[in-house]
Amino acid sequence: MCGIVGYIGKSNAVPVLIDGLKKLEYRGYDSAGVCIFDGCKLTVTKCKGRLSNLEDKIKDDPISGNLGIGHTRWATHGQPSDVNSHPHTNKDMTIGVVHNGIIENYLKIKEWLMSLGYEFETETDTEVVPHLIDYFYDGDLVQAVMKAVDKLEGSYALGIICKNEPDKIVAVRKDSPLIVGLGKGENFIASDIPAILSYTRDVYLLDNREIAILTKDDIKIITQEGLPVNKEIFHVTWDAQSAEKGGYEHFMIKEIHEQPKAIKDTMTSRIMADCDDIKLDNITLTKEQLKNIDKIYIVACGTAYHAGMVGKYVIEKLARIPVEVDIASEFRYRDPILNEKTLMIVVSQSGETADTLAALKQAKESGSRVIAITNVVGSSVAREADDVLYTWAGPEIAVASTKAYVTQLIAMYIIALYLARLNETITIEEYREIRDEMLTLPEKAQIVLNQKEELQKFAASNYMHKDIYYIGRGLDFAVALEGSLKLKEISYIHSDAYAAGELKHGSIALIEKGIPVIALATQSQVYDKMVSNIKEVVSRGAKVIGFAYEGNCEIEKTVNQTVYIPKTLDILAPVLLVIPLQLLAYYTAVEKGCDVDKPRNLAKSVTVE
Ligand code: G6P
Repeated sequence: MCGIVGYIGKSNAVPVLIDGLKKLEYRGYDSAGVCIFDGCKLTVTKCKGRLSNLEDKIKDDPISGNLGIGHTRWATHGQPSDVNSHPHTNKDMTIGVVHNGIIENYLKIKEWLMSLGYEFETETDTEVVPHLIDYFYDGDLVQAVMKAVDKLEGSYALGIICKNEPDKIVAVRKDSPLIVGLGKGENFIASDIPAILSYTRDVYLLDNREIAILTKDDIKIITQEGLPVNKEIFHVTWDAQSAEKGGYEHFMIKEIHEQPKAIKDTMTSRIMADCDDIKLDNITLTKEQLKNIDKIYIVACGTAYHAGMVGKYVIEKLARIPVEVDIASEFRYRDPILNEKTLMIVVSQSGETADTLAALKQAKESGSRVIAITNVVGSSVAREADDVLYTWAGPEIAVASTKAYVTQLIAMYIIALYLARLNETITIEEYREIRDEMLTLPEKAQIVLNQKEELQKFAASNYMHKDIYYIGRGLDFAVALEGSLKLKEISYIHSDAYAAGELKHGSIALIEKGIPVIALATQSQVYDKMVSNIKEVVSRGAKVIGFAYEGNCEIEKTVNQTVYIPKTLDILAPVLLVIPLQLLAYYTAVEKGCDVDKPRNLAKSVTVE
């Protein structure tokens, strides 16, 4: 979702901004633009479409300067168009603004400004910001920004420059991410670390309602009330290359292949062979506190929600605590029962998803304790939660989440085991069995990755289908939902996942001759029932590809094609089972010639409601 980059220094800002925006492309966007101070005036160049369009425009009409802000826009208010693209300015082009988020009261402000004679060119909510700053400006940009943001409701990360004060960038955030990069004789703002990682590894993570004032040699941070803030520098330990493709054709396939390492890294130092303790430095929940908890909510969006579904199964099974899984955008408006006896687990790769963050805040306001599972150190979710369990997947760039999902599963197992040990609902022998098997998962995940041919074959012969269905029972159903989401996200093939036992209550009406059905059959408790469900669709003409444990040749009698994963404990099967489904979605999208890493209409980090 919208990306922001800003630069002030000695170099030409234009290539720095374009380079930074390219690193943010993964967030999803439909237009892009820059605003540059060239020594005497602000110039805005912006257009609909990909960054290459913007680069062409700048080639035709070159601009340069040592101060600038850039933006990739993911349309919310007003269609993707040249005019609606950011940056936006005031009428006399003295103030330039880029914005990420949604100004919820923009109509009210717009009407008020129009009554004062201000004219608007765009349909965006953002355009009120430069006009509002203009209204308050009397020679001091920081003061004007403070007064303007005081009037704004909603979420915003703003980068602002002013022709009359070309020695600074002013940046401010509320509920939308924004970081400040510390350089030598140059400084940066960005909505995410990869944008500036080629220039600096030292950043400030701005908190809500903080204002950063950057000159080329200095960075000052104050609150929206003007009080100074002493911030610690956050040193980024991963390097720019982890956010590069490293020889792979797409980020997604690179990230799929990084899963054995991501699984291992997420377990490292938390669960260890020959050690009966689970070490969770950032989780302080005690046995006494847990005794008081009678319910767990797992709240998340998209893929993270699917990881939550697996979490429900394993926490209930191992720790015997009732768990509800909720989609964050539904949870926050359904008047959930939250109190000090509730534990909320929020799951978010980015740690910035607006709905997830709102649910977290709601839980905290109601006195509930919150554990966050997130991949981004210092993200909003990590900062707001009581306890954090970081997934160590490394930066995930492809919009479709893969390695973040499997590490979220690992985090769920770790939490389930931790709670189960505290609650004494599993024996030490049971713990050891699960722990030892978990430690084999990186190796087994590698084995799955080495068997791609069956999936390439399936993709080559099925990519032209309009519908593909996924079925499974128990944990296989939770994985089916994720597999189906992957396929629709990147190949645009219509797909749904069904609990196989529920098929005959409606969805089986969709099955007709030749329709591909992906049938997941790892869960031994319901295996025979699953085989019956597969037969039900086969007898109605479906072409079934079955997924089962190695050694289960029985299934071949029922299905058209089989993919095997190494044998593991049933509760751990999702980690291995999802990998071939990710590959299947990937190869299908490649066959169709889709933009795998940046699927249409989607954003990596959804920072608006
Ligand atoms: C977007 C992304 C998904 C992701 C979801 C939740 O929709 O495209 O890949 O699963 O947001 O994101 P989060 O960062 O909270 O895990």
